[in-house]
Amino acid sequence: MNRIGKDIDKAAALLQAGQCVAIPTETVYGLAANAFDTKAVADIFRIKNRPSFDPLIVHCDSLDKVKALVREMPEWALKLAQHFWPGPLTLVLPKSEQVSYAVSSGLDTVGVRIPNHPLTLELLARLSFPLAAPSANPFGYVSPTTAQHVAESLPLQPEYILDGGPCQKGIESTIIGSENGKACLYRLGSLSLEDIENLIGKVEIKLNASSNPQAPGQLKIHYAPKVPLLEMDIEEAKKIYPLDKIGQIAFRNGDKEIKEKHRCILSGQGDLYEAARNLFSALRALDNMDIEVAIFQYVENIGVGKAINDRLKRASVARNNKKSGTE
Ligand code: TXA
Ligand code: MG
Repeated sequence: MNRIGKDIDKAAALLQAGQCVAIPTETVYGLAANAFDTKAVADIFRIKNRPSFDPLIVHCDSLDKVKALVREMPEWALKLAQHFWPGPLTLVLPKSEQVSYAVSSGLDTVGVRIPNHPLTLELLARLSFPLAAPSANPFGYVSPTTAQHVAESLPLQPEYILDGGPCQKGIESTIIGSENGKACLYRLGSLSLEDIENLIGKVEIKLNASSNPQAPGQLKIHYAPKVPLLEMDIEEAKKIYPLDKIGQIAFRNGDKEIKEKHRCILSGQGDLYEAARNLFSALRALDNMDIEVAIFQYVENIGVGKAINDRLKRASVARNNKKSGTE
């Protein structure tokens, strides 16, 4: 059966019938359903094996539609929206009655965004409802950046995967919430903190709120490949693992000692945007290698490099803490 394709009519018909469809965005693929249909929303949680306490982002194709989903939009939020949408930015704002607690996981706020992908914008324009969509991966695993990734990793498939090609950004949206009326950063993402602060000034950082995470995507444990990923150099790794069982995620230059097929170079040019685009494919590739460990070093901590480092850190912490049973 042809479950992957570019047929917007088919995607729209399935969504109208209350089914889930995987959709492309510029960041990662989402697992979408009618945000106003609580049964369809419940299916998202089931297909992803996602805990019900982890709220969904709602996607629209226009600011007017977004405004109907929120009770208020502070000036800084409007400024960000006007400047960066469509784009890799999610705003968490007080929800209107239109948004059910099934979508917001019982919170009084909702995450909203206008994604920047032509197929999905066209799809949203045809629908009479917005789309709730988390990343289309099993909970805790690496987000998909191609239609193929979605097909490979979700054991319970969505009815259809709308294929929009490889995602242009490759890392999830940056999430900005509001606390005491002020903007704060909940998740580092494809839109850099620098770009946000250039527009609205200093933003408080609220990542990893350990006891009560605002966004479980901020949980330390996330984005994890199955193979252990360790921040380590080759000399150290060789003392512990056989050389031919070592894999590597390298920003620019891999270690020649490591088998070529076990080296994932994020950007031969040393370009952080290219590295971001390739990161999740690289993390997935590790799971198809005959290796016992993968080593990495952090990239320069500026711009989108911060989000790359955040994902690398979570992917490595995840494995080290696995025995704690947090996932
Ligand atoms: O780039 C993206 O944001 C992708 C594409 C598909 O849009 N979506 C995505 O969704 O990454 P998801 O569900 O994998 O991550 C969304 C994060 C979750 O960690 C969730 O906890 C947080 O957003 N979130 C959603 N609504 C929230 C709310 N009301 N308050 C705090 N965090 C929220
Ligand atoms: Mg996710």
